[in-house]
Amino acid sequence: MTCDTRSIPFGRPMIGEAEKAAVLEVLSGPILTHGPRVKAFEAAFASFTGAPHAVATASCTAALQLAYTALGVRAGDDVLVPAQTHVATAHAVELCGGTPVFVDSEPETGNIDIAQLETRMTARTKGVAVVHYLGMPVDMARVLAVARRHGLFVVEDCALALGSTCNGVHAGLHGDAGCFSFYPVKHITTAEGGMLITGRRDIADQVAKLRAFGIDRNIVSERAMPGMYDVDALGGNFRLNEIGAALGVEQMKRLPDFLARRRANYRLLTEKLEPVKGVRLLRSTHREFQSSYYCHAVLLEEPLRDKRREVIAMLKEKGIGTSIYYPRPLPHLSYYMAKYGFDAASFPVAAEISGCSIALPVGPHLGAEDITCIAAGVEDAIAAVKTGSVSGGSHGAGRGPSQQEDRT
Ligand SMILES: Cc1ncc(COP(=O)(O)O)c(C=O)c1O
Repeated sequence: MTCDTRSIPFGRPMIGEAEKAAVLEVLSGPILTHGPRVKAFEAAFASFTGAPHAVATASCTAALQLAYTALGVRAGDDVLVPAQTHVATAHAVELCGGTPVFVDSEPETGNIDIAQLETRMTARTKGVAVVHYLGMPVDMARVLAVARRHGLFVVEDCALALGSTCNGVHAGLHGDAGCFSFYPVKHITTAEGGMLITGRRDIADQVAKLRAFGIDRNIVSERAMPGMYDVDALGGNFRLNEIGAALGVEQMKRLPDFLARRRANYRLLTEKLEPVKGVRLLRSTHREFQSSYYCHAVLLEEPLRDKRREVIAMLKEKGIGTSIYYPRPLPHLSYYMAKYGFDAASFPVAAEISGCSIALPVGPHLGAEDITCIAAGVEDAIAAVKTGSVSGGSHGAGRGPSQQEDRT
C-alpha cells in the first residue's frame, strides 16, 4: 500500500477477539455492575503501576473530582492548575466549589512551569494539580519539594500518562492521587472509564465511598440484608460498570505491547521529523523519566506559525488524522474568561503551544510504514505552504473510514 491509499486515524481503539469475548461473557451473566471484573481490573492496574490502591471510576474527570473532594477542596480554596491541559483538570476543581489558579507551561515540554508555582500561590492555596503533558512526566521531585514547603496536596492528572515513570516510579504515585482516562484514543480503553491510584488508604476508601453515593457499605456482599445500608457522606454515581471493566482487564494484558509499539513509532517519527525545517518538537525524553508517548506534537515556527489550518487540511487530504492538545490555554476558554476575566495575552507559553502545535498519531494501530507516510505528509505539507502552492483555510473532506473522534 502506498501513502496515497492509506488511512491513518489519530486514534483507533485496539479491540480484539479477547475483548469481545469478555464483554459477551458479562452480557451473558447476571452481574452488570458491582461485580468481580471491576475488582480484577483494579488489581491488574495496581499490579502494573505498583499502586498500593486503585479505584475504578466512570471517567478520569470523575476520578479528579473525587480526588479533590477527598482532599477537602471546597469553596474558598485555590488549586494551582496548568494552563495547558484538558478542561477536566480545572473543571473538577470548580465542581468542588474551589478555584483553579492557572500556571503557564515551560516551553521545552509543555509541562507546568514549576518555577512559577510559588509566584501563583495565595493564602487560599490548598493544592497543586499537575498534568504529565502528552505522557512526558513532570519533574515530580521538584513539585513535591514545593508542595511540602507549603503544606499543599498534589494531584497528578495522568490521563495521557499510562506507562510514564519518573525516577522509576509510575506517574500518579508521587503525589496524593493520580487519575487516568480510558477514553477510546487513550493507551487502553474501557469505552469511557477512569482509575484513581494512591498510596493513601484514607483517600482510596473515601473515593470508593464517594463514587457510590456515600454509602457506608461499599460492596453488596457487606450488606446483611439486600438493599439495607446507610449513607454518611455526600457522593454521586461515578462507578465503572462490568462491561467496561471486562474490556479493561483484557486491555491491561496487551498494554506492554501497546506501549512498546508507541515507543517505536514515536522514535521513528522523531528521527524523521528532526531534520525538517520550520517545526520544533517538544522534548519527550529525560535520563530519569520514561514517557508513555501519547502522541507527537510538532510546533510550527516562523514563517509557518499561522499556517496550521492549511497543514492540517493537507494531512487530512492524505488520510492522516491529527488533533490539537489543547485548543486553547484553559484561562482563555469562554467559561474561564467570563468568570475570571483573563487577558488574552496571558499565559504566553501555553498559548504558543495551543496556537501553533499539531498532534500527530503514534498509537499501536500504526506501523513503521504509516509513520513514514506521516513524516512524508508533514514534509510535503510544509513545503507546499512555504512555496504558497496550497490554497489555505478549507479543511479537505478527508478519506477513509470515520475515525474515533478525539474530542479533547
Ligand atoms: C489531561 C486530561 N485530563 C482529563 C481528561 C478527561 O478524561 P475523561 O474523558 O476520561 O474524563 C483528558 C481527556 O482527554 C485529558 O487529556
